[in-house]
Amino acid sequence: MTEPHLFVIYGGTGDLTGRKLLPSMYQIMVDSGIAEQSVLLGIGSRELDDIGYRDYARKSLSEAGIDDVDPWCDERVYYQRVPRGEQSLGALADKIAAIETAHHLPGNRVFYLALPPTAVPTVITGLSKAGLSQSPGWTRVVVEKPFGHDLASAQELNRLIHRHFDESQIYRIDHYLGKETVRNLLAFRFANMLFESSWDRDRVDAIEITVAESLGIGSRSTYYDGAGVIRDMMQNHLTQLLALVAMEAPHSFEPEAIRDAKVQLLNAVRHIDLEELTLGQYGSGHINGGSVPGYRNEPDVPADSITPTYVSLRVDIDNWRWQGVPFYLRTGKRMPDKSSQIVVRFRPPPICLFHGKRDQCEEHQNTIKLILQPNEGFEVNFDVKSPGETLHLVEKKLRFMYADEFDRLPDAYQTLLFDIIQGDQTLFVRSDEVEASWRLYDPVIAAADNGHPLDIYPAGTWGPPGRHTPIQAAGRPIRGEVRTSPQASATPPQTPRDEGR
Ligand code: BG6
Repeated sequence: MTEPHLFVIYGGTGDLTGRKLLPSMYQIMVDSGIAEQSVLLGIGSRELDDIGYRDYARKSLSEAGIDDVDPWCDERVYYQRVPRGEQSLGALADKIAAIETAHHLPGNRVFYLALPPTAVPTVITGLSKAGLSQSPGWTRVVVEKPFGHDLASAQELNRLIHRHFDESQIYRIDHYLGKETVRNLLAFRFANMLFESSWDRDRVDAIEITVAESLGIGSRSTYYDGAGVIRDMMQNHLTQLLALVAMEAPHSFEPEAIRDAKVQLLNAVRHIDLEELTLGQYGSGHINGGSVPGYRNEPDVPADSITPTYVSLRVDIDNWRWQGVPFYLRTGKRMPDKSSQIVVRFRPPPICLFHGKRDQCEEHQNTIKLILQPNEGFEVNFDVKSPGETLHLVEKKLRFMYADEFDRLPDAYQTLLFDIIQGDQTLFVRSDEVEASWRLYDPVIAAADNGHPLDIYPAGTWGPPGRHTPIQAAGRPIRGEVRTSPQASATPPQTPRDEGR
């Protein structure tokens, strides 16, 4: 049941709020019918009043394709100006008190900090000093990723937040956890014995996790040049995918049981081998037929920036289930397509019985491909004998697509905002989990900052040219190629698409 509450968005005129938070809040009210329970307060440094912010909200909703929102906007949306870096939040506390009185709210509050990581500590301290960490109802604080910029800063931030809020009040958000297909990973694995019984070192040869984006950094250079792809994507989104695809079954579906299982998995990851690390930065090139500038020519990016926009690496997990199975993680900006997927490659049969021309083995590795974007679903690839006298194998697939079976999938933010309002922390990252994840990437970030080779790849390509993808470097056959021996592949480097997306 939804309790009446005030939803406060710090960073209320920022990009994330306009594109995601306002449309998602509105959609929740429509879909869940909670408009009567919810009042929204935007906080920003812009000189706006309530009326001005209502216009801003209407415009943002309209840009997201949502019109006809007047009653909600005019009755339940407010604004408070707080200058950047302001530590004294007395005026905000007064505004909150006035809104809660006017709407008869019992003091249930969400503070969503849609802010760059550097701004978070000041706001947390300011909220506490203004008496806003406690209330007659519940108080929840939402912190966007990246949480800190390395292990030490994440630990420091955890300590700071814990001085003012209990862990049960903190929602570290990673929007990948709200994606329907990511949430389905748990159902896929733990509701289907067919798959889960094959999900281990005896059956699986390798797992690839790829998140490719065609977008560049847009107008976010100030944030991005300090963060880079490791902090922006790898430490959080891809690592969450890794945890969900590899974790043990939780003993229940309670939030703590799931989060315990994820932490246990992250703690079993071996030190990342820097020999297997490839870093890249996009140069100029073409996307969808149009030319785009290289990263160093994006507005406000230093001409000698060494910030990576592409990373690929290998993860090994030292536990009974996964010992010896490599996980290849890669992500990059300015690739030809937007595409996120997890490919589970199964071991080839121990002996090849099906030989084709030149005595080559005709069997392909079975794969399960979990497609997270753009067309959510999954595929199971397997061999069949093609009809005819000669014994010839061809690869075919069974395919399930969400769009074929269900209506519109909710936006990830919609799911997560609703969970925050309901007080469900399952899809949020716990303090020990965020620290376990940074522990993996501190050495990778140090390498990137200290001269690890950075390859420039043309925008519109699948990453650094001339480099073997990790899966090829490991001598594993590319899915779909004719296998001559399980160890060697003479196939030239191929794109993620060629490798079985
Ligand atoms: C964000 C990153 O967290 O995720 C962006 O900061 C990235 O750089 C985005 O573009 C990708 O999200 P999605 O949902 O479009 O895959």
